[in-house]
Amino acid sequence: MFVGLDLGTSGLRALLIDARQTVIATREAHYVTSRPHPGWSEQTQSDWIHATKEVFTQLATDFPSEVAAIKGIGVSGHMHGANLLDQNGTPLRPCMMWNDTRSVSQAAQLDTTAQVRNLSGNIVFPGFTAPKVAWVAENAPETFAKTAKVLLPKDYLNFWLTGIYASDMSDSAGTSWLDVDARDWSDTLLDVSGMRADQMPKLFEGSEAIGTVREDIAAELGLPKGVVVAAGAGDNAAAACGIGALNEGDGFVSLGTSGVLLTGRDAYAPQPESAVHTFCHAIPGRWYQMGVILAATDSLNWLARNLNQSPADLTKALGDSITGPGQIRFLPYLSGERTPHNDAEIRGGFLNIDINSGPEALTQAVLEGVAFALRDNFEALKSTGAQLDGLIAIGGGAQSPYWVELIATLLNMPISLPAAGEFGAALGAARLAICAATHAAPEAIMTKPAIAKTIAPRTELRDAYEAAYAAFVKTYPGIKALTQ
Ligand code: XUL
Repeated sequence: MFVGLDLGTSGLRALLIDARQTVIATREAHYVTSRPHPGWSEQTQSDWIHATKEVFTQLATDFPSEVAAIKGIGVSGHMHGANLLDQNGTPLRPCMMWNDTRSVSQAAQLDTTAQVRNLSGNIVFPGFTAPKVAWVAENAPETFAKTAKVLLPKDYLNFWLTGIYASDMSDSAGTSWLDVDARDWSDTLLDVSGMRADQMPKLFEGSEAIGTVREDIAAELGLPKGVVVAAGAGDNAAAACGIGALNEGDGFVSLGTSGVLLTGRDAYAPQPESAVHTFCHAIPGRWYQMGVILAATDSLNWLARNLNQSPADLTKALGDSITGPGQIRFLPYLSGERTPHNDAEIRGGFLNIDINSGPEALTQAVLEGVAFALRDNFEALKSTGAQLDGLIAIGGGAQSPYWVELIATLLNMPISLPAAGEFGAALGAARLAICAATHAAPEAIMTKPAIAKTIAPRTELRDAYEAAYAAFVKTYPGIKALTQ
C-alpha cells in the first residue's frame, strides 16, 4: 500500500492505493488561509499537521489492515511557500503562500540582478520563495536573523514525518535559489538573496527516498515501522506524474483555482522573458514548462458569488457547445497575472457591457476571458520551442464541456478528458512513493489515464474566435495604461 498526500491551497487530500494503483480510499481535511492585509496570504504550519493526523486517523479507522501495510508515502504541495524555521525546526512565522504578493518590490529587485534569470531560468515572480524571504529580511529582521532553515510547504510536512530537512528538484526550482539546469542550489543565487547554503534543505529527485517516518509519528498515525517517504514534488510536477506527462510534448491544461498549461521537456530550454516557468520535473533528467494564470475557476467562482448562483448552474445555462464569441470582453486578472504579463498589480475588468447583458452573457465572457488568457500562455509556451500535439484537461473547470470546447478551438488542438478516477497531484505523489519504496522505473509507474472522450476544435468557428482573441490581446495594454 502507498499513500499520496496533496497539500493543496484549501485542504489536504490523502489517496491510498495498492501496488497496482487501485484506489482504496481518499480522505480530505481542510484548513484556512488568512489574509490579514491586502496581498498577504498565509497558512499556519500546525494546521497542516492537524490535517495530516485527521486524514490518517480516518484511514486507519476505516482501513486498518491496509494502513498497516503501507510501505511508502509521497507528498505533493502548493509551491513557492516560505516556511522559516529556527534552529530547532520550529516555524518562526506562518507560511507565506504562493499567492502572497506582498514582495513585489523585492521580486523586481532580485529579477533585475545580474545572473538571476540566467541561473534560475525564470522571472523572479513575487509569489516565489526568495523575494518573500527578502521581504522578511527587510520588514522583520529579527525573524530573518533567527532563520536556520527555509522549507517549502510539502517539505515542512516531510520534515515533520521524518525529521529530515529535504527538498526535491521540482519544488526547489520555484524558489529562485536553484540552478535549474544543474539541479543544485546556486551559490550565486543564494548570495544575491543574502541566504546561505546551510539554510537550504538537502536536495533529492522527487522519486528518491529521503528517509522513513519517525517511530513516534508512525505510532501516532497508525503506520507500521519503516514507511519510506519520497522527496515528493511541487503540485504541478506531481499532477504531471499523475497524468503521465513525463516526455517532450506530453501536456495538460488544468482548470483549477489557477489555470496551468504544462508540457514535459526532455531538455532545459528556459525563456524567462516569455514569463513561462521552466522547472525541473520530479523525476531525474527531465524538466517541464508551464504558463500559469492566477484566476481560472477563481474567475468563474467570483462571478457566481456575486450573482448568487452556483458556478455549475452558470455554465449549464450556456449549453454544452460553443456558438461563437460574445461581445463582452473579460480580463481575468482578479489576482494579478503571471504568464505572459508578470504583473502582480493589474486587476480584471469587463468591457462592452450592454443594457441587455445578463448573467449568461457575463458567464460567457468570463469563460472566454480565461480561455483567451490560456491562449496567451500557449503562445508563450510555443516561444520556448515547446511542441504540443494534444492536451488532457484536468481540474474542476474541465467538467464544463463548453469551456473545454472553447479552449480546444482557441488552441486549435484536441483536448481529452480522462475517464473518472484518480489522475491528479495526489496520485502523482503516491506514484513517487511507489518509485521511492520499490525502486521501480518512473516510466513504468507514471502511465497515462484512460480517456473518456476527446473534444475537437470547432474549425468553422475558429476565425470568429481568432478575431475575438485579437481584440482581447489589445485590452491588457489599454487597461494597464488607464489604471496605472
Ligand atoms: C505554480 C503555482 C501554483 C501553486 C498552486 O507556480 O504557484 O500552481 O503551486 O498550488
